Amino acid sequence: MKIVMLGAPGAGKGTAAVKLAEKYGIVHISTGDIFRDNLRNQTQLGLEAKKYMDEGKLVPDEITVDMLLTRIGESDCQAGFILDGFPRTIAQAQALKKALSQQNSRVDHALNIVVSDDVVMQRLGGRISCPKCGAVYHVTGNPPKTPGRCDRCGTDLIQRDDDKPETIKKRLEAYYAQSSPLVDFYEEEGVLSNFDGNQDQAFVFKEMTEVLG
Ligand code: AP5
Repeated sequence: MKIVMLGAPGAGKGTAAVKLAEKYGIVHISTGDIFRDNLRNQTQLGLEAKKYMDEGKLVPDEITVDMLLTRIGESDCQAGFILDGFPRTIAQAQALKKALSQQNSRVDHALNIVVSDDVVMQRLGGRISCPKCGAVYHVTGNPPKTPGRCDRCGTDLIQRDDDKPETIKKRLEAYYAQSSPLVDFYEEEGVLSNFDGNQDQAFVFKEMTEVLG
């Protein structure tokens, strides 16, 4: 099963992707997490990506596409994967389509989570996440059992640098300008499903599993 997650920043892509990957036994790949891991390790890729992430802008396609295509070529992706944060431009979607078609494969499902901008601002302001396993929490809406600690792996939770209100607004602008056309792209591919992300997490997850089977 090859799945892509679509939706604005804070729509709940990562939250749902972690659970879906667990349920279906497929790999969860978050391009944002890959960039953040690289930044923590001070790699050239991480330092380059930081210039864009701090501004709420997308990292250029020429950096992102190569990185993602290399990752999905690894052996653990043979059984399937769920992409969280990729594609984010039509050029990225076309590059993914081309790479998969060379293996007689394709994206099976594009899961689009629809939320209002107000909800995005509220959610990202309170988000805390695990830098190790990718689990996502909210300080009031979905707190971890032990404050500051990941329920799944016990790692200390962090707040992301790009979750400042002014950066969130820029990320939303980038979403509407560059990423929202992907909804039409995947509708034309015949694989799009839309979900009301204003609903609670359990509801969104259940609706998704009904589509995925
Ligand atoms: P990335 O890390 O992908 O961030 P994003 O797309 O902005 O999405 P988020 O991770 O902020 O939100 P989410 O939808 O996953 O929501 P979450 O589940 O965390 O990208 C960061 C940056 O990296 C980009 O700005 C860009 O610079 C760069 N980048 C990454 N990929 C790129 C690419 N392909 N091309 C170019 N640049 C790229 O949930 C948010 C909060 O809400 C949490 O607190 C959660 O607990 C809560 N929540 C979730 N669902 C619900 C619900 N249903 N009800 C109540 N609360 C909920």
